[in-house]
Amino acid sequence: MKLILKAIGKKMVINMDETSAGLVFDVSIPSDNAQVVFIARHMLDQLGFDKTRQYLIASAVSELSTNIIRYGKKGIIILKKISNANQTGFEVTARDNGPGMPDIQKALKENYSTGNGLGLGLPSVRRIMDEFEIWSKPGQGTRIIARKWML
Ligand SMILES: Nc1ncnc2c1ncn2[C@@H]1O[C@H](COP(=O)(O)OP(=O)(O)OP(=O)(O)O)[C@@H](O)[C@H]1O
Ligand SMILES: [Mg+2]
Repeated sequence: MKLILKAIGKKMVINMDETSAGLVFDVSIPSDNAQVVFIARHMLDQLGFDKTRQYLIASAVSELSTNIIRYGKKGIIILKKISNANQTGFEVTARDNGPGMPDIQKALKENYSTGNGLGLGLPSVRRIMDEFEIWSKPGQGTRIIARKWML
């Protein structure tokens, strides 16, 4: 799979086959989030997700990178094409070495926020995506992997 981006009058071709490690982005400021979401939308489009799902999945990516910026301060987002025996899909990984979560179950509950958010980010990522894995330890950081399959 080749990811072809046409932006600011330039054409950029990125090799995105399943064997590739994925696209890795450093995120720490809001414009990093915008960039990640932009690329995610293009990837999802080329993977064949319809517009509605593109927006939904891109919003899940945005929630994860926003949480990195807000709570972890800085970290990385990895976007990747994945496949199994009968379908292809999209995987987003979010990692940071920030403060971590003292209680993961609480963090996944709707309306729980230690910041001044609505506490809807993580529950919506879980709802939108097909698979969701989270690892977080106080003082060690947070790692989240979420996948969405085409079928
Ligand atoms: N990367 C992270 N590192 C540390 N804590 C996190 C991280 N991501 C989420 N959390 C914790 O989980 C809580 C819930 O996250 P969630 O994204 O659901 O809500 P929110 O960011 O507070 O608000 P919203 O996303 O609705 O704006 C956060 O308030 C925070 O305490
Ligand atoms: Mg959030």
